Parts: sequence; C-alpha cells; structure tokens
Amino acid sequence: MLRNLLLFLSVSVRMAAVNGYGYRYGYGYGYEGSGYSYPESRDTDYSVQYTGSAYHVDYREPRWCNHLRVEDGYVDCRSPRGPNYRSTLGTRCAILCDRGYRLLGRGHVQCLVSRRWSGFSRCKQVRCHMLPAFPYGTYICSKGSAMDSRCEYICEQGYQLEGDRTRVCLQTGQWSGTEPFCVDHEPPRIKCPGSRVKVAEPGKMMTRVYWDPPRIKDPADKHSIKLILKGLRSGSEFAEGEHLIRYVAYDRERNKASCKFTIRVHVKRCPTLKPLLHGYITCTSDGNNYGATCSYLCDGGYERQGVPKRVCLFNRSWSGVRPSCVSIQINTEVTSATALLDQFYEKQRLLIISSPSPSDVYYRLQINMLQQATCGLDLRHIILIELVGSPPRVVGRLNDQELSSDVIDQLRQVHYLSSMYFNMVLIDKYGIDRERYIQPASSGELFSFVDEYLLHKEERALQQQKTEQCD
Ligand SMILES: *[C@@H]1O[C@H](CO)[C@@H](O)[C@H](O)[C@H]1NC(C)=O
Repeated sequence: MLRNLLLFLSVSVRMAAVNGYGYRYGYGYGYEGSGYSYPESRDTDYSVQYTGSAYHVDYREPRWCNHLRVEDGYVDCRSPRGPNYRSTLGTRCAILCDRGYRLLGRGHVQCLVSRRWSGFSRCKQVRCHMLPAFPYGTYICSKGSAMDSRCEYICEQGYQLEGDRTRVCLQTGQWSGTEPFCVDHEPPRIKCPGSRVKVAEPGKMMTRVYWDPPRIKDPADKHSIKLILKGLRSGSEFAEGEHLIRYVAYDRERNKASCKFTIRVHVKRCPTLKPLLHGYITCTSDGNNYGATCSYLCDGGYERQGVPKRVCLFNRSWSGVRPSCVSIQINTEVTSATALLDQFYEKQRLLIISSPSPSDVYYRLQINMLQQATCGLDLRHIILIELVGSPPRVVGRLNDQELSSDVIDQLRQVHYLSSMYFNMVLIDKYGIDRERYIQPASSGELFSFVDEYLLHKEERALQQQKTEQCD
C-alpha cells in the first residue's frame, strides 16, 4: 500500500530543499551524546524522473533517506530491495539501544517519500536516582548512578549492617533491593576508676572521697550515652567500711555496659588506753581513732602527774606518755597559812571547821555526820581541816597531820574563823569562801551545794556513778 501511495507522489526533492523546509535534521535531536547524527547534506539531485503522468520514484536509489545512525545504539534495517539498500525508500528500521541506554521515541522508523525517516528516537543513558545519604554509614558505587553500578553499603565502626549489603542500578532505572540499616549492637565500653582504700579523717569516722567519672567509649556514638550511678556520688562522706560504686552506661540502642569499684574507708586506731588508777579518761570521737583526744582526770584526793591529754596519731600511737594519778601530798610543815593554802589552789576544796573545844556539841555532831560521808568528801575533792580549842591550847589537824599553832592562828585570821563558837567554811579551788555555816550541816546539805555549784560537768557524772559505790 505504501508503495502505491508513493507511486502517485510527485516529488522533486533536493536535499538542500529539504533542509530549507525549516526542518533541520539534527536540530533538537542530533545533539551530542545521544540520538541521530546526520551526514552533511548533499546538493545532489536524485533520480526522480518525470514520466508524464507521475513522478517515478526510484526504489532502487540506495540513499533515499539519510544514513541512519543512533548514538549509543544501533539500527536493524530491512529494505524492500534487499540487504544492500539500507536507506532506500520504504526501508524499515528497528532502533535498538546499547546496554545501559534506554530508547526514547519510536522503536521503528521508515524511510518516507519525503526522504525523511518517519520518526525520531534516541538512546538515553539509564540512570538511577542518587541514593540518599546513609545514616551511620556510607556507600561506595562502582559507576555512580549509572546502570549496572553496584553500590556497597558500609556502616560506621560500632554499627552492624542489616538488610541488603549491595544494591545494583537496574535497567529499569531502579535500584535493586531496599536500603539497609546500620544498627548499633556493640555495647559501650566503660572503665571505672580503680578501687581505693581511704583513711578516715582525723577525729572522724568517715572521709570525703572524690573520683573522676568513668571513661566511656562507644564506637557507635559517644554522645548519647546515658550514665547511671548506683551508690554514693563523688564528694560524699563515706563511713567506715566497704562501699560499692557501680556505673551503668546505656547507648541509644539500650546496649548496656557496667563497671564497678570499691571504696574502703579504714579508721586508723590506736591501742585502747588502759584505765587510770584513781582517775578516769574521757575521749573525743570514737575513743581511739586517729585524731581522738583523751583527757586524763584524777579522782578527788589525787593529782595527775604527766600530760593532761594524749592524741591518737596517724601512725597508730598515742602522743606523749601515760600520766598517773597520785594522792595529793600536802606539806603541813609550813610556817604560814598562805604556804599551806597555796597547795590546795586549783586542786582541792577545803572544809575548815573551827570550834572552841572538842566537847562542843555542834562540833561533835558535825564530825559524826562527816565521818559517815568520808567517801563523799574524797570524791568531791574536799579536804577537811579541823581547828579545835582556844589559845593557848589549840589543835589543828589535816587528816592525820598536825598543823603548827602559827598556821592555825593565821588560818583563823585569813578566813575569819572565831575560836569562841562553832563555825565552818567551805573554800573552793580558787581560794574563795563559798559557804559558811554556824550550825552543823548534814552531808546531804553540804554535798547538794557542792554538787550543784562547784563541780564540773564530768565530775558530776562521775559523782553520780561513784556515790552508788560509796553508799
Ligand atoms: C609516731 O609518730 C610520732 C610523731 O610523728 C613519733 O614521735 C613516734 O615515734 C611514731 N611512733 C611510731 C610507733 O612510729
């Protein structure tokens, strides 16, 4: 049918004229890289003969249409005249693209009477879309996003790939498979500071301990580590004993790692002090821990010889030498009352009884009451002095020791003690008259006064304890 149609066409064609149609081969199609390319037009007349009634189209003209070439492709032409007439009128060509190229346009063209091919096609390189950035990893492609390009996915250190490791750009322009994931399966690495032993602070049963936070390494991601402390925090006070400190680190995928260390607080101790004969020891803190201070105190009637205090040192030994309590030695062989009284100063209290004669009723009553309370007198640091008689027969006694008549006389003068009637004075450790009595006082009365006003706190506690032993 085509042939018949062509028979009736009257065409006078010159290539130049064809170009002059305003249809330029290669224009819009013949650009570099794809599509057809055409040889230069030839200013040659073709053998179209006028036969009177119609133009005769010579099918045999081998170059009726331009030689058909497809960039990045090839053509498979069938001419009605046989295999040697590639571009004769009526030649039908299949257009095929090279591998990696895709046909745009028609798959077949035909050489028309107009000396043009019936259509235009080109081969376009097949390209896949660019693969998106890959979180926590990267990919390497053999040929970019061209067809057959093989892309390999690689995860950052610490991550594991899940899914398709490689994707290939297919002929369809699609990537094979699906995008894989990088998953963090590796737990973080955590390193705790070393275990340590600390000595309790001086005078305390605890110490403050500081340490650096644990070192954390997570190859996958260092910044989203959550750290949980189990135990006391750095800078806390740690009591004696062992303390476990544990850190747990979680990464974003909840991979877990933990580490631990111990803090042992050690209280350095000195040997326990031996109890003091005729005295007692009071200590600060825990008694014998490093820094504890112990005071040595003597019972009434005794005085300390040696240091008042000892401190437990870092090397577990006590400072100084152990003191002792010795009974107070009063020298009665003195010639003045002042010399006698000076010996009591800050050590003992004095209870001086003065009476005109040993047969004085008040005097005897008083002595009876005091004899029952001898134990109480000692404990309360009280020494009794008796002054009996009136000149020229005067007697003065301090315990079993006799006082000289000069001393007796002076004592009476200093403390305004009359020899005419019963009187009694209580002198404290500072030499001050605390209380005067002109009638006998019961030991209870006497002691309640002493206990209330003249005793130290420690003495009072001790008194409480010892009174029970005396009763
Ligand atoms: C302990 O230390 C004190 C003073 O630093 C020293 O005098 C004493 O000898 C030491 N004791 C021991 C047992 O090392």
